Amino acid sequence: MINVAKLKAGEKVLIHAGSGGVGVFAIQLAKQLGAFVATTTSTKNVQMLKDLGADQVIDYKTQNYINVVKDFDVVFDTLGGDYTLDAFKVIRNNGRVVSITGPLDKITAQQLGLNFLVKNIALFQARKVLKLAKQKSALYRMVLMNPNGEELNKIGSMLLKQEIIPVIDTCYNFDDAKQAFEHLATGRTKGKLVIEFNN
Ligand SMILES: NC(=O)c1ccc[n+]([C@@H]2O[C@H](COP(=O)([O-])OP(=O)(O)OC[C@H]3O[C@@H](n4cnc5c(N)ncnc54)[C@H](OP(=O)(O)O)[C@@H]3O)[C@@H](O)[C@H]2O)c1
Repeated sequence: MINVAKLKAGEKVLIHAGSGGVGVFAIQLAKQLGAFVATTTSTKNVQMLKDLGADQVIDYKTQNYINVVKDFDVVFDTLGGDYTLDAFKVIRNNGRVVSITGPLDKITAQQLGLNFLVKNIALFQARKVLKLAKQKSALYRMVLMNPNGEELNKIGSMLLKQEIIPVIDTCYNFDDAKQAFEHLATGRTKGKLVIEFNN
């Protein structure tokens, strides 16, 4: 959102699954940047996302976000599939769609150093998304998180200053790590799951 979408103050961003492990941080970072934040989640998490600062929380149990948001500058897609394709229905011309689950784009495929065949298979899988991006003169990028010390330091100091509040669903002991991954696989977690190495 910062490095690739280059979200700016005053811009409108839609963050899918704002109640997930990535979403709770993405909402707060986007607010820190001064953006207007709309986000999707289900009824039970609506208040939590308002409390984290989201300007517009769309409850997917009662509303279809496609009818609610329009001409957004950026979509941050954490869901993939149709959500990646439909992002182009809600962005403005020249907008940006950044996905962490969608098909690979050319730049990320190159960064991964994929060989010619695998890269072209990946780009074939991305053809629908790339076509929609072209029709809207939009940017599409699939981003793989690549944390570095400098960025983690910045996030660490925001946490210490309570500019970002971590949301932790459950802490597991290391011995229960399998349960933690089973919990994560339900797709229903609120924020992060933590595995503790020291009891
Ligand atoms: N590219 C990368 O480097 C990278 C890095 C981290 C994660 N990922 C991927 O990014 C995705 C998101 O990760 P995450 O850790 O944030 O996931 P997560 O924590 O498992 O997300 C769970 C949350 O998603 C919400 N959700 C589920 N379906 C939804 C829908 N249709 N609309 C809106 N919200 C919905 C759930 O809310 P409800 O319970 O209310 O439905 C729940 O709070 C995963 O596929 C993960 O593998 C990629």
